[in-house]
Amino acid sequence: MFARSDAVPTLTEGDVRLRPLRLSDATRWQEIRRRNQAWLGPWDATVPDEGAQAGEIPPNFPAMVRRLRAEARAGRVLPWVVEFGGRMVGQVTVGGVTYGSLRSAYIGYWIDQEFAGRGITTMAVAMASDYALTTLRLHRLELNIRPENAASLAVAEKLGYRKEGFREKYLHIDGDWRDHLTYVLIAGDVPGGVVARLRDEAAHQQ
Ligand SMILES: CC(C)(COP(=O)(O)OP(=O)(O)OC[C@H]1O[C@@H](n2cnc3c(N)ncnc32)[C@H](O)[C@@H]1OP(=O)(O)O)[C@@H](O)C(=O)NCCC(=O)NCCS
Repeated sequence: MFARSDAVPTLTEGDVRLRPLRLSDATRWQEIRRRNQAWLGPWDATVPDEGAQAGEIPPNFPAMVRRLRAEARAGRVLPWVVEFGGRMVGQVTVGGVTYGSLRSAYIGYWIDQEFAGRGITTMAVAMASDYALTTLRLHRLELNIRPENAASLAVAEKLGYRKEGFREKYLHIDGDWRDHLTYVLIAGDVPGGVVARLRDEAAHQQ
């Protein structure tokens, strides 16, 4: 199910909702990020030469939201807040949306440690993947994950993304260039969609 606002729709599956990041998220977003600095720091993207530390709270949240929303209107980014039971608990961002002969994007995500381990991110990334492949008709989605990030690797495997290979010093994370493993999902890999498959698996486990 989805409702559209700007270029970023709101998607709902049970208790998990993806909705656009907005300026009014500032207080809750900053509170979560502050409380989770140690949890998120090792996996947080940083920008070389800007001197920002991993886990640091951006001094200008409104500027960050405005930049993301402008990118969203241009069709290059889907900046989603993940809500669980109506509360913001994390983010899923589809970025680098490219059309033409590539039709590709990557997906990034994090969750408040208090809500980790409940399958929320797996469902949220499944919803984002289905939207990107079905509604945007992208051909290829990537997850780029540090080899040390066991929880994120588990998410990729559970979603049915396939390990494509190793990228040396691929992204600037936690203050330095870090090696990554790239996982991919190609349109048609999961007939019927990733959300439906997760639901089937959950039903069979009961
Ligand atoms: C990665 C992250 C988003 C996962 O969120 P989540 O909501 O806890 O994910 P889920 O509950 O859907 O699934 C987590 C899976 O990882 C597994 N897991 C968690 N910690 C693990 C560990 N140390 N080793 C192995 N598996 C682990 C869980 O058991 C679960 O798998 P299961 O359902 O098969 O048991 C979360 O750990 C996080 O925010 N980490 C910090 C930021 C980050 O790493 N972002 C991604 C960068 S690529």
